[in-house]
Amino acid sequence: MSNDRTIDIAPSILSADFSRLGEEIEAVKRGGATILHVDVMDGHFVPNLTVGLPVVKSLAAATDLPIDAHLMISEPGRYAQQFVEAGARMVSVHVEADAHLHRTLNAIRTAGAQAGVVINPATPVASLVEALPYADYALVMSVNPGFGGQKFIKTSIDKLRRLRQMIEERKLNVRIEIDGGIDLENIGAVVAAGAEIIVAGSAIFGTGSPENAVRGLREATVQWV
Ligand code: DX5
Ligand code: ZN
Repeated sequence: MSNDRTIDIAPSILSADFSRLGEEIEAVKRGGATILHVDVMDGHFVPNLTVGLPVVKSLAAATDLPIDAHLMISEPGRYAQQFVEAGARMVSVHVEADAHLHRTLNAIRTAGAQAGVVINPATPVASLVEALPYADYALVMSVNPGFGGQKFIKTSIDKLRRLRQMIEERKLNVRIEIDGGIDLENIGAVVAAGAEIIVAGSAIFGTGSPENAVRGLREATVQWV
């Protein structure tokens, strides 16, 4: 693994105070956040409902942080391009939700954003084999998607290692993202295992100072980069 990796800290606004979203975003930016992670849920693919296109559009106009739209929706191919048009610079779709991944990932890229492919905790790393060349990043879920504040599933570390190995062996230009239950205790281990884009919700917005929380998470990665 190369020693000069860029680590992105991507706060998930799911745990933020939605009535003060603008302030919350400014705070995490001051703390060193480099991506804003937006969880889109449809109440069908996952048992929860969150935000959609209008919120992404408003956020994109309000911040210069790149927006990473994590689509936890069935048939994401029907909407992926619209999220790019709404201003998302990264859009990810789940392998479990899309029978036409190749088409959807290409559509995201053609629309001008980075395309991400996501696997749930019980979905094997091998399910990414054919899709990786069409993706800019691969997201390993370390909780079952749907809610913030869940406990990190430890077997995700080994999935990260195997995914990193697969990417390096094939010399692919795919970054690895991790999402779910990330905190000060485990962030070093996920970075050491190969993750480069680190999503965290409750460990940032569930604290008194989201700004300091981001700073602390980033500091905890330094020795592993
Ligand atoms: C879960 C979402 C996550 C979530 C992470 O379905 O995809 O992005 O907000 O929150 P924490 O960091 O609290 O697990
Ligand atoms: Zn997410």
